Amino acid sequence: MGTITAEHGTVKYVVKGATYFVKENFAPSVQVFKEALPSRRWRGIPETFFSNGPVEKLVSILGLGRCNMVSVRLASDMDLTPEEVEELKRLVGPTFYFSRSAYDYTPDKLPFDDPELAKGYQTAFDILVRNWDDGEDNMALVGGVPVWFDFGVSLDPRCQNVYRFIMKLEEARRLGRVSTIVSYFMDYTRRRSQILKRAVQSLQSIQKSEIRSAVRISEVPMPAYFAEYISRGLDCLLEDIDIIRGAFLRENVEKREIHMTMHITP
Ligand SMILES: Nc1ncnc2c1ncn2[C@@H]1O[C@H](COP(=O)(O)OP(=O)(O)OP(=O)(O)O)[C@@H](O)[C@H]1O
Ligand SMILES: [Mg+2]
Repeated sequence: MGTITAEHGTVKYVVKGATYFVKENFAPSVQVFKEALPSRRWRGIPETFFSNGPVEKLVSILGLGRCNMVSVRLASDMDLTPEEVEELKRLVGPTFYFSRSAYDYTPDKLPFDDPELAKGYQTAFDILVRNWDDGEDNMALVGGVPVWFDFGVSLDPRCQNVYRFIMKLEEARRLGRVSTIVSYFMDYTRRRSQILKRAVQSLQSIQKSEIRSAVRISEVPMPAYFAEYISRGLDCLLEDIDIIRGAFLRENVEKREIHMTMHITP
């Protein structure tokens, strides 16, 4: 049994020295996710938006030990009492999940205590899972080291297309929600390029068996779809990184700005 607190709409659960942010689980609303479809119909998957516990858990399992990311648990992982379940339903919503507080981590417990390395590995990983919402709003600094949380936008079917993903990154940048991916490439250096190469190698050592067990443990709907999403992402990772880097190198972003201004001002 733990302690539930609610402050300014933020609900936290503390148990055995661990603090979790409790988040409402929005089930993917589209019909297609209610039942697995035969593979020949996957191409017809409609556009949707996730902020879904199993998807966040899947991303956190894959990132565990590879990036400075918090762990995510489903309600079924938590040994909640029936009273706690009722209280959390009242405070959060009909279904919910748990995001371990970034402030529970210390640099010595994280894969990277060097911020530059942490950002490089996060950039490669977030390109893999198509997490465009990984900027400062979803990152905490512990002892000067970044730790990421909130992977809710990841693995969106629309963003499997790398150009569509770039459009999301660009739209967020224009709205002031600058992704770690974008800031990494805007101030690109030789060291950053070397870090990224190592990060890609580390991710490409992920075996199919690990992906299969991650989709199973996370309880995502349509596990085969998500496993394929990640496998394909790994195969294309280097190429995707090249394309995204091209879009966000500072000189290219600035050229785009000038071009836009010329069209707007007479
Ligand atoms: N695991 C976590 N570690 C640290 N802080 C967290 C964590 N989860 C949530 N928070 C805090 O709660 C706020 C809202 O949580 P979350 O990011 O999940 O929701 P959101 O709707 O995406 O809000 P935002 O627009 O701030 O990203 C965050 O901005 C952060 O301050
Ligand atoms: Mg957030």
